[in-house]
Amino acid sequence: MSAVGPHEMGWGSYLSAVKSVLPSTLMSQAGSNFEFVPRMSEIAREAGALLMGYFRARVKIEYKGDADLVTEADRASERLILERIRAHWPAHDVIGEEGARIETGGDYKWYVDPLDGTTNFAHGFPVFCVSLGLAFQGMRKAAVLYDPTRDELFAAERGKGAVLNGETVTVSKVAKLAQSLVGTGFPSHKRHKNPNIYFYHQLTLRSHGVRRAGSAALDLASVASGRLDGFWEFNLNAWDTAAGILIVEEAGGTVTGIDGKQLEITDRDVLATNGLIHAEMLREFGEIFAGRGLEPLPDPRAYRK
Ligand code: IPD
Ligand code: CA
Ligand code: CA
Repeated sequence: MSAVGPHEMGWGSYLSAVKSVLPSTLMSQAGSNFEFVPRMSEIAREAGALLMGYFRARVKIEYKGDADLVTEADRASERLILERIRAHWPAHDVIGEEGARIETGGDYKWYVDPLDGTTNFAHGFPVFCVSLGLAFQGMRKAAVLYDPTRDELFAAERGKGAVLNGETVTVSKVAKLAQSLVGTGFPSHKRHKNPNIYFYHQLTLRSHGVRRAGSAALDLASVASGRLDGFWEFNLNAWDTAAGILIVEEAGGTVTGIDGKQLEITDRDVLATNGLIHAEMLREFGEIFAGRGLEPLPDPRAYRK
């Protein structure tokens, strides 16, 4: 490295020169020792590119239920992902939202959501992703979430940290619910049985706001990267959460059930936070479940007058 400083060289060249003389241990980039993530990222990017082709062309909406949408893009993405997994890891089991099932009882199992955010996708609202979660003996092991609209790839492996496009990500430092931005979601089937509107209302009044972006996997990625301070949802599936939960945990966050219990991979009610507001959110949920301190919903007839 030359003796001239950043002012003579410009900051960009100066930093490159500094990096070139740092020991490789200091240089070691987050995630550089990932085992599964590199190949998983290739698959997720390929599936993401395929989704973008369908997104630009606008696809026909089909219905799995009342308001439960599916498109040709969901199925094509799952076919591609399944082919790639089988080619690279022929002994692994696979569960995909659109029907992929390889269940031999082996140690490794993939949870694949080929398109998380189908309703957004089908309406041309650009918030959706590909979610690939890999479990080993029932424990989340590796995760990749790819948002092709922003070219953002979130990834993690157990014990090895979480990254966004290769750079370490960590959860936020907001310590009070009253100063936090949180997210939630509502299911597209059995909607009338979901109690979340009460939680939505209470949390809206107790925080800076509640976002409903329409992709549970990306909501979890937002907690991991500090864009949201917390997220909760009832009745999710393992393909929605397997990747996102690991990314939150590896980014330093806390994930439990809505009752505070440890989450098994197939548990459906999820609370993910930066850790700092976790207890406060659990307390709030406890109160709501008990029907205590509920702010009354305003009467629309009174508003009209
Ligand atoms: C849905 C999204 C949505 C959540 C729903 C999920 P899909 O997944 O993650 O945000 O609220 O509960 O079912 O159907 O778009 O893969
Ligand atoms: Ca999903
Ligand atoms: Ca899906």
